[in-house]
Amino acid sequence: MQVIETIAAMREARRTLRGRVGIVMTMGALHAGHLSLVEAAQLENDHVIATIFVNPLQFNPNEDLNKYPRDLPADLALLGAAGVDIVFTPTPTMMYPDGFQTSVIVKSVTNVLEGEIRPGHFEGVATVVAKLFHLTQPDTAYFGQKDAQQVVVIKRMARDLNFPLEIVVCPTIREPNGLAMSSRNTYLTGKQRASAGSIANSLKAAGDVYEAGGREPSTLIHVLKMALAPELMIEYISLNDPLTLTPILQATDAPILLSLAVRLGNVRLIDNSLLPLGLNNRHAITQVLGGSN
Ligand code: PAJ
Repeated sequence: MQVIETIAAMREARRTLRGRVGIVMTMGALHAGHLSLVEAAQLENDHVIATIFVNPLQFNPNEDLNKYPRDLPADLALLGAAGVDIVFTPTPTMMYPDGFQTSVIVKSVTNVLEGEIRPGHFEGVATVVAKLFHLTQPDTAYFGQKDAQQVVVIKRMARDLNFPLEIVVCPTIREPNGLAMSSRNTYLTGKQRASAGSIANSLKAAGDVYEAGGREPSTLIHVLKMALAPELMIEYISLNDPLTLTPILQATDAPILLSLAVRLGNVRLIDNSLLPLGLNNRHAITQVLGGSN
C-alpha cells in the first residue's frame, strides 16, 4: 500500500493505475462503517484509493475540528489489511494553500436538515469532495447512507458539474445495540452509548408503523419520539423527499427519508432510514437517495 502525502505524487500515482478505480473518502478514525465502503470498492474495482483528511472547511468555528479523533497509524493498518492500493493523506495547507478562495455551493438541498443547523458545512464538503474527485479521478465513489444528506448533495454536485463517475451508497453499519457507527461515538460514555441505542430502535418503531399502513407524518414522528431515550435532546425529526429533500408534510406512498439529529451532552448524533423499510439495501439506497447517477 502506497501512502501519498502530496498532490503532485497523488496525480502521478493515479496516472500509473490501469482499469477501474474506486475511491473511499474519509476523515480517518476508521471503523467498520468506513471499512464496509472499502470492501465494496475492493470487490468492484481493480484499484482502491482511500483518502484521510480532516477537512477544516466543513467544520463550523464552534465545532470539534481540534478534538476530532485522529489515529493515522491505526487507520493505515486497517486500510493495509483491507487491501487498499493508495492512501492519500494531504495536509490542510496542501489542500487550501494561502490565497485559496474557491468553493462549490450546492443550493436548495443544503438549506434543510444538517445544512440548516450547520451553515457552511456542505459548502466545505462539496468543495473538498470536488477537489478529491479531480485529484484521484475515480470511476466509482463509495459513500455511506449514514450521512444521507451528504449523499444527496454530492450526487447533485456530480451531476451538475459533470463528474464522469458513478456514486454507490452503502447501508449504515451499526453497533450491536443499533447505534450507527461514527468516529464521534468515541466521545460517548458507556451509559450514553446505551441510551443512543434507542435512536435505531425508534427509527425501527416508526418503520414498523409505516409498514402497518401508517402514513401520517405527525404519527410517524410521534412514534419515533416516544421510543427515544428521554436524555436525548431532539434537534430535528424530519420526513423528506429522498431526491430533493423537500419536507414531506402529508401522507404519501412515495419513498421517504426519515431522519433525525439528537444531542447527548455535547455530542451530536444523526441517523436515518428510508421508508418503506425494504429500501434500506445498497441497490435501492443508491437509486433512491439523491436519484440515480
Ligand atoms: P467520515 O465521517 O469519515 O465518513 C466517511 C464515509 O464513511 C462517508 O461516506 C460516511 O457516510 C461513511 N460512513 C460513516 N459512518 C458510517 C456507517 N456507520 N456505516 C456506513 N458508512 C458510514 O463523511 C465524511 O467523512 C466527510 O464528510 C467526507 C465525505 C470524507 C468529506 O470530508
